[in-house]
Amino acid sequence: MRPVWDQRSTMRLGALLTLLLCSGLGSQENSFTINSIHMQSLPDWKVENGQNVTLQCVVDISTTSHVKPRHQVLFYKDDALLHNVSSVKDTESFLIPHARVFNSGMYKCVVLLNNKKKTTGENRLWVQGVPKPKVTLDKKEAIEGGAVTVNCSVPEERAPIYFKVEKFERDPKVVKLVKEKTSLGQNFVTVEFPIGEQDYVLYFTCQARISSGFQTETSDTTRSEEVTVTASFSTPRFHITPAGIITEGDDLQIKCTIQVTHLAHETPEIIIQKDREIVAYSSSGRETIYSVMAMVEHNGNYTCKVESSRLSKVSSVMVNITELFPKPKLESSSTRLDQGERLDLLCSIPGAPLANFTIEKEGTVVSRGQNFTKITEGWDSGTYTCTAGVGKVVKKSNAVQITVCGNISTPRILHHPKSEIIKGQAVTVSCHSRNGTSPITYYLLRGSDVLENITKASDKPAEFRDSPTKDAEYKCVADNCHSHPAVSSEVLSIKVIAPVYQVKLTILRNPEVESGKEIVLQCSVNEGTGPITYRFYKVGEPNPFHQTTSNDTRVIWYKEQASKEQEGQYYCVASNRASFTAGSTQSNTLMVKVFLASWKKVLIAVLVIGMVIATLIVGARCYVLRKAKAKQMPVEMSRPAAPLLKSNNEKVSEPNSEANSHYGYSDDIGNHAMKQPCESKEPVNSDVEYTEVEVSSAEPHHVPGTKGTDTVYSEIRKADPNSVENRCSRTEASLDET
Ligand SMILES: *[C@@H]1O[C@H](CO)[C@@H](O)[C@H](O)[C@H]1NC(C)=O
Ligand SMILES: *[C@@H]1O[C@H](CO)[C@@H](O)[C@H](O)[C@H]1NC(C)=O
Ligand SMILES: *[C@@H]1O[C@H](CO)[C@@H](O)[C@H](O)[C@H]1NC(C)=O
Ligand SMILES: *[C@@H]1O[C@H](CO)[C@@H](O)[C@H](O)[C@H]1NC(C)=O
Ligand SMILES: *[C@@H]1O[C@H](CO)[C@@H](O)[C@H](O)[C@H]1NC(C)=O
Ligand SMILES: *[C@@H]1O[C@H](CO)[C@@H](O)[C@H](O)[C@H]1NC(C)=O
Ligand SMILES: *[C@@H]1O[C@H](CO)[C@@H](O)[C@H](O)[C@H]1NC(C)=O
Ligand SMILES: *[C@@H]1O[C@H](CO)[C@@H](O)[C@H](O)[C@H]1NC(C)=O
Ligand SMILES: *[C@@H]1O[C@H](CO)[C@@H](O)[C@H](O)[C@H]1NC(C)=O
Ligand SMILES: *[C@@H]1O[C@H](CO)[C@@H](O)[C@H](O)[C@H]1NC(C)=O
Ligand SMILES: *[C@@H]1O[C@H](CO)[C@@H](O)[C@H](O)[C@H]1NC(C)=O
Repeated sequence: MRPVWDQRSTMRLGALLTLLLCSGLGSQENSFTINSIHMQSLPDWKVENGQNVTLQCVVDISTTSHVKPRHQVLFYKDDALLHNVSSVKDTESFLIPHARVFNSGMYKCVVLLNNKKKTTGENRLWVQGVPKPKVTLDKKEAIEGGAVTVNCSVPEERAPIYFKVEKFERDPKVVKLVKEKTSLGQNFVTVEFPIGEQDYVLYFTCQARISSGFQTETSDTTRSEEVTVTASFSTPRFHITPAGIITEGDDLQIKCTIQVTHLAHETPEIIIQKDREIVAYSSSGRETIYSVMAMVEHNGNYTCKVESSRLSKVSSVMVNITELFPKPKLESSSTRLDQGERLDLLCSIPGAPLANFTIEKEGTVVSRGQNFTKITEGWDSGTYTCTAGVGKVVKKSNAVQITVCGNISTPRILHHPKSEIIKGQAVTVSCHSRNGTSPITYYLLRGSDVLENITKASDKPAEFRDSPTKDAEYKCVADNCHSHPAVSSEVLSIKVIAPVYQVKLTILRNPEVESGKEIVLQCSVNEGTGPITYRFYKVGEPNPFHQTTSNDTRVIWYKEQASKEQEGQYYCVASNRASFTAGSTQSNTLMVKVFLASWKKVLIAVLVIGMVIATLIVGARCYVLRKAKAKQMPVEMSRPAAPLLKSNNEKVSEPNSEANSHYGYSDDIGNHAMKQPCESKEPVNSDVEYTEVEVSSAEPHHVPGTKGTDTVYSEIRKADPNSVENRCSRTEASLDET
């Protein structure tokens, strides 16, 4: 495969070489060079708008050939290709007919000859001036409130074009409105101008301006045709009747009229306004009327407005009405009266002309005269006015507010929820006077201090909240506008129960009590309302061993003759009615120890020694008996007694309280009775232990190593193998352990 490829490629290479050689030979035949190239504009680089412009590219080429070489001439504007021509001529032209501002720019030309290229410099073509814009209007006759659309265009030029359009009044010549607009996409703009009230004969002007990079060209101003404006409606006119002086009671008519042209395409609305208030209006027709009986209140500046969607015309008139008689005046002897006092109202007109009077209370006539006198009741409170009428003219007086105060009844005081509360809880105290004119102010007193006041506008009880810390006596005082002094309620007592707080158990004197002496425990609380229930407990026992109820904050429990049995941990619990809300009411735990009196110790020691001696004697006897039976038994029997004694001695010399207390304990309790039989029946013992003993006796050499007690008991058991209570041996054992 490779040879084949090699062959082909060699062939191709050969062909290529041949081609290159041939062309090289051809080019070598004639030589070309571009000597120079330049550009020119006819008539000039700066031309007037609309002129024909010819751009020329002049090339000077030298060649060895007798024929002119064919070369490419390229025209560029602002680096964009404009014209591409293949030529053999020295000069190539490009024609711009009627040059416009958009033709302004940087031109250059390029000549390509074979692979040679030459470029001219950049030449600026400047087109001066802008053609006059064309102005067209959509109408020649306009109506007030309408609009004229102005079309301003420069057809020869290209966007973007900036337009300035102005609206002129012809006579006198004034600029009414200037609108400026830049058209980005088209070479024209349409601008709408509203036609207003003061427009009569109008015309519009237009000016165009084009910017092209470095230059800005402005056109001359073009003037449009004229537009005549027709008023759609006239300025409104007032017609007031009666003419001349208007007196109160006259029928006053304020009429506003307008004239509307047939050209108007909408009927304007006519509005008569006095100050900010619309008093009459009409949305169709040419007039509107405001009719009213003349009163001084109707004096003022009336405005008539005629309004269409875009147009508004206004005129105004002053209306002056002469007063017939002044406003009546209502007077009262007093504005605040107690129930049962006399109310005197008098209505009068300054100057006292003849008139018909009425006195009213909130719309109801209470008197058809100038006077109103009454012994007041609670319901006579209210707003009173009077009216005075002369002929048709009726005038209303000022309003007089009369307050009649009903006698306030003794307030009732109530509590909620109970007359007994737990300290920290709130009590609601409500006060209510059933009779008496509102508003009533209630004052809550605790003792003699005013805690709070509540003013009730309605006939509702006042509710106060308080959280007394101790028993309190509340009182309500109610007061209203009545001249009587405030009235006071009964006294309400509230009992405050303090929950028991800080329960403490103490022992009077020493917490270590000699047996036979008294134990005195005191359970006390720091705070707590009686009756308080105190319970004394011993730790480990579910039920209290003592319970008592007292009003006192401390109680005492005592035991006259303390015994070992009383030793232990104690606590007490105190509770009262409030206890369920409080936390723990349990006291501290107190350790009480009972120790043996010294004479008892001596007694016990003597007893024990006696016992031991007795035991030894019995043991010795047994031993002798045994020895007689089995001769090999050694004489070590006496030895075990010594450790027992020794151990006992140790216990006594130690802070013996525990050891002795045990004795005291067993002394006091019936156990002692049980112990004695044990001591007396010491030899008596259980079968189980008995078996053990037999083993020890079988190995007498081992006995000295074991504990003295064991040895002793084993001897005892041996001596009397009869039935014995287990408890006894246990007692003995515990005696030893201690
Ligand atoms: C410009 O050229 C047009 C033809 O392209 C010709 O009709 C016109 O008369 C010329 N204008 C001038 C001012 O030479
Ligand atoms: C000019 O025109 C010729 C032939 O029409 C073309 O081959 C050449 O690419 C053109 N040059 C440019 C720069 O467009
Ligand atoms: C404005 O006038 C120009 C020519 O003067 C026209 O081409 C164009 O359509 C007109 N524009 C409108 C909105 O009538
Ligand atoms: C009446 O009111 C109009 C509009 O508020 C005002 O222009 C005019 O001056 C007033 N006329 C008088 C006499 O006050
Ligand atoms: C209205 O009329 C009274 C007399 O009738 C006159 O004193 C007063 O100046 C007038 N007011 C106006 C605003 O015309
Ligand atoms: C009303 O009161 C006035 C003065 O207080 C008195 O002169 C007149 O007689 C009274 N009229 C009536 C109807 O009570
Ligand atoms: C008072 O009222 C009566 C009846 O309504 C009427 O005849 C009389 O003219 C009135 N008096 C005045 C001063 O208006
Ligand atoms: C108002 O009440 C007080 C006591 O509440 C009493 O002394 C007095 O007589 C009463 N007055 C009237 C007018 O009822
Ligand atoms: C409250 O007023 C009523 C009548 O409205 C009367 O019967 C009652 O006796 C009054 N009570 C007191 C306490 O004044
Ligand atoms: C009523 O209580 C408010 C505070 O709640 C106090 O400012 C006011 O002086 C009290 N009014 C009276 C008459 O004591
Ligand atoms: C405790 O006090 C109440 C009154 O405070 C009394 O009624 C009660 O008899 C007292 N109880 C004892 C046990 O003293």
